[in-house]
Amino acid sequence: MKKYNLAFLGCGAMGTEVIDYVVNNLKNKFNITLIIDNEINNAEKLSTKYNISPVITNDINIFLEMQNIDLVIETASVQAANQYANDLVKKADVIFASVGAMSDQVFYNKLLDDAANHNNNVIIPPGAIGGLDAIDAVKDSITFIEIITTKSPESLSGAKGFLDYENYNFTSPEVIYNGTATNAIKLFPKNLNVAVTLSLFGLGPDKTNVTVVADPDVKMNCHKINLKGQFGEISFDFKLEKSIKNPKTSALAGLSIIKILKDY
Ligand SMILES: NC(=O)c1ccc[n+]([C@@H]2O[C@H](COP(=O)([O-])OP(=O)(O)OC[C@H]3O[C@@H](n4cnc5c(N)ncnc54)[C@H](O)[C@@H]3O)[C@@H](O)[C@H]2O)c1
Repeated sequence: MKKYNLAFLGCGAMGTEVIDYVVNNLKNKFNITLIIDNEINNAEKLSTKYNISPVITNDINIFLEMQNIDLVIETASVQAANQYANDLVKKADVIFASVGAMSDQVFYNKLLDDAANHNNNVIIPPGAIGGLDAIDAVKDSITFIEIITTKSPESLSGAKGFLDYENYNFTSPEVIYNGTATNAIKLFPKNLNVAVTLSLFGLGPDKTNVTVVADPDVKMNCHKINLKGQFGEISFDFKLEKSIKNPKTSALAGLSIIKILKDY
């Protein structure tokens, strides 16, 4: 069996979950060859813990000089995906966790073209949601599509869209955002990647309605998806345990990348 060389851009909560799985279950299929992360110390600790020896750097140019990477897993940030995506897809297949970067349709279409021109694939994982096959199948007749995301104030804290609520004493669930996916990802770049993922399989980010609810009693990250059209009505309801390392991220998001690796 061919062994693939894997690079990580970003190695926090999700990247660590994926490395853990690869080392324990897929080491005959993947070599972890490169980790790019601003936090070099953390990447070095991971290497020691998992007894692996990737090149560790905070410099994207090291990746650009390497010739042997088959697949990149981007689990860094929307800003990093925006900055580096075009370089990445010219060199390898790329799984993007920070799907929010794709809310700019011009950027996304160019990325798809660049990847295709270099015989590479842009891979969008379902992340913290699912049912995207059904949404894709009915997309031409969707008349309404929305996602309602409910998280604890702790999970939303730090986002630009949460600035006015940082010192607010929530006693019951409150809507703190209602608008398009395009604006949602700008205000909540670490929380609303799911809205952009949904939009890529449906009507696009400008026509995907997003509601963000801060609920002081909710323990999980919750996403309700509703759509209507000629086909009827579809609803999905996700109540997801948080990643142990990052309450903004749901554990399912890492598992969705692991599923792609199993099938790669
Ligand atoms: N698609 C989905 O459904 C979904 C779900 C949850 C999270 N996400 C997104 O996935 C990404 C990773 O999530 P996480 O919970 O692992 O985040 P995290 O904050 O735990 O880890 C991110 C890591 O990337 C590194 N990093 C960030 N920007 C970088 C840059 N410009 N250059 C180099 N390293 C950089 C950080 O140092 C950190 O180690 C985030 O963008 C998050 O919003 C997507």
